[in-house]
Order: sequence, then structure tokens, then C-alpha cells
Amino acid sequence: MSILKKGKILVTGGTGYIGAHTVVELQQNGYEVVIIDNLSNSNIKIIDQIKTITGITPTFEKLDLRDKTNVFDFVKSQPDLEGIIHFAASKSVGESVKDPLLYYDNNICTLVNLLNAIKGRPVNFVFSSSCTVYGEPDALPVNELAPVKTAESPYGNTKQIGEEILRETANAGNGLKVIALRYFNPVGAHASALIGELPIGVPQNLVPFITQSAIGKRGQLTVYGDDYDTSDGSCIRDYIHVVDLAKAHVAAIKRMEAGQMDAVYETFNVGTGKGNSVLEVVNAFERVTGVKLDYRIGDRREGDIIKIWGDVTKSQNKLNWTAQLGLDEMLASAWAWEKYINENPF
Ligand code: NAD
Ligand code: WQD
Repeated sequence: MSILKKGKILVTGGTGYIGAHTVVELQQNGYEVVIIDNLSNSNIKIIDQIKTITGITPTFEKLDLRDKTNVFDFVKSQPDLEGIIHFAASKSVGESVKDPLLYYDNNICTLVNLLNAIKGRPVNFVFSSSCTVYGEPDALPVNELAPVKTAESPYGNTKQIGEEILRETANAGNGLKVIALRYFNPVGAHASALIGELPIGVPQNLVPFITQSAIGKRGQLTVYGDDYDTSDGSCIRDYIHVVDLAKAHVAAIKRMEAGQMDAVYETFNVGTGKGNSVLEVVNAFERVTGVKLDYRIGDRREGDIIKIWGDVTKSQNKLNWTAQLGLDEMLASAWAWEKYINENPF
């Protein structure tokens, strides 16, 4: 069945983990996709992988969004751009503490360059935000009306500032419409195992460390604390399959295209609405894969919040989107990707 051809969407950071999965979903929904990426945390081979999955090679422009002149020139060359999904940013909490200016430059200046380049054009803009803006929520599940807390890191602050810049720019009434998606914890990989989270450096996040430890690339997993006020003492998060997350971006674009927004700036939680503890994730990985994990209980990690999971009713009702995949599928797909990338290093 042929898919109705839709508009052109610019995906910044489109060869990255979430970006690549979103490009696949956009193409499979009939959108023409143009990717901007400086390949600082991804690999050009992802373009071939996307082509293998969808049969369509996205247009790719290697470009650093910090380069204002080139950003202006490129956007000017795309008069038929209908939407932008802005993934390009640095995302390591730990690195941001060590080098805040790198994060304000790469996560804020890039956004301002992009917004100036499209100024006055009626563009639908989707922003990669994060549940990190909530800090340690006062109530669970956390909904979009919960107060934004003082950021625990420069990285988290760049997401809060990014939301403020977008809200104020959209409210200035220059044709920009914005949906900020507040991701919880994206994990897993495409069912084809051809795209996933690229292993650059030692993973700080739980699931990539688990899969790299399981395949022998890393040593013992440390569970950062089991003395928290939770059922098994380990921290709780709302893990969401990256493919479900990617589909939420398509849903956001469709909402804006259909003129369904209640305001020119909206935020949505993108999670499953369920929480799982670290030890539950470890046990689920062992059960799903049959691989015994070597792990120990270590000290708490500074800056970790104890528990968070999302109230996703607003996304269900207004984005017409609900996560479909559970923790088992997340972990099985993460393991399939780990085995693929181990045998086919980029
Ligand atoms: P990623 O690092 O895999 O992807 C980011 C992409 O942006 C990379 O391909 C990188 O090369 C590119 N990029 C970075 N700086 C750039 C620049 N100056 N110019 C052009 N390209 C640039 O990260 P991801 O996990 O896919 O995250 C995508 C977005 O989602 C980020 O904004 C991140 O902050 C946000 N986010 C991620 C998570 C998560 O757990 N992965 C959670 C919440 C929010
Ligand atoms: C999850 C749980 C750890 C590693 C971070 C960023 C957030 C977003 C997603 C960008 C915690 C525990 C982890 C390990 C462990 N990124 N853990 N051993 O911290 O919830 O969120 O990534 O936007 O902004 O803060 O995810 O996967 O690092 O940790 O025990 O080796 O796993 O303590 O409880 P987190 P995470």
C-alpha cells in the first residue's frame, strides 16, 4: 500500500541514537527527511543502515549547528521545510559538570542559531527535552504541570533553558509552533538490530553498560546503591523503548500539522507511565537473554534521584500516542543490537 507523501522534515542530530530511530519512523510515515549532524557522537554508516531498513536514503548534510553562517545558508536552501525535530546536543550529565561551557555552547547556542535561521517562517518544531527538568518530583507519577526544579546539572539546565527559549519565541507570535517532548529513559534498539545506541566511550547509562558487560566489553556492573526508599532499595525509572519514543515524535508533528494544538507551545511526557528499579532491570535482562550478569552493589551515585515515572495521560489523549513495548522487548532489542555491533563494528 503506497503511503501518502508528506512534507519535508529537518532532523538535527539525525544520525544519533534517538534521531536515527525517528528518521526511520518519519520515512515510514511518508515524510521526506533531511538530516543535519556533525557526527560528533554518531557515525555516517547510520545513513546506510537507515536505507537498509526503509529503502530510502535520507538527505544528509554534515554541519555543526554552532556554525551560524552555515546554519543560515543551509536553512535558506530549504524553503519547503515544514518541520524540524531538534535532537542535536551533548547529553552527558557528568561531562556537563566538568565542562559547563561546552554544554551551554553546544546545547543553547545551536538552538538559538537554528531559531534565528527559521525566524518568521511557520515551522513546526519538536524539541528533545527530558524528565530531568522535574528533578526529584514531589508527587508520582509526575505530570507536565509539575514544577520545574533547579537543575541538578548544567546538562539538565540546558534543557530547562531550551524550553524557556522555545516557549518565549513561540509566544512572540512569529509563526513558530513548538512541542517539547520530555523523555524519560530511552533504551533498546530497532527490531532489525541495524541501529541502536552507538557505544562511544564507557556508558554512563544503565542499559548500555549492562549489554556491554554481558558481552564482555566491560567488567562488572555496579548497581549504584540498594539502600533507597524503594521496594528493593534500588532507584526507579520509567524506561521507554526508543522506537516508541521515535513514534511520539511523528505523533507530535502530526498534531501540529493538523492544527490541533491548544497553544503555540506545548510540553508532553514521553514514557510508559510505569517505573522499574535497577535490580528489576538486571533481573529482567538475565531472564530475557539467559545471560548471567556479573554485578555488585556499590555506593550511591551522586546526583541520582530516587524514583520517577511519568503521568502519560496527556500524551495518550492529545498526541494519540501510547508506548506499546515493555521492558522485556526493550532489553531483548538492546541485547540484539549489542551482539550486532560487536560483530559489525562501525
Ligand atoms: P546522541 O548523542 O546519540 O545524538 C545526538 C546527535 O547530535 C549526534 O549524532 C551528534 O553527532 C549530534 N550533534 C551533537 N552536537 C551537534 C552539533 N553542534 N551540530 C550538529 N550535530 C550535533 O543522543 P541521543 O541519545 O540520540 O539524544 C538526542 C537528544 O535527546 C539530545 O538532545 C538529548 O539531550 C535528548 N535526550 C536524550 C536522552 C537519552 O537518555 N538518550 C534522554 C532525554 C533527552
Ligand atoms: C538509571 C539508573 C543509576 C548505571 C540519565 C540522565 C538523563 C537522561 C537519561 C539525557 C540510576 C543506575 C546506572 C550503572 C547503575 N539523559 N545505574 N549502574 O541517570 O536516570 O538519566 O540518562 O537526557 O538526563 O540523567 O539514567 O541509565 O544513567 O541510570 O546502577 O552503571 O541506573 O544509579 O538509578 P538516569 P541512567
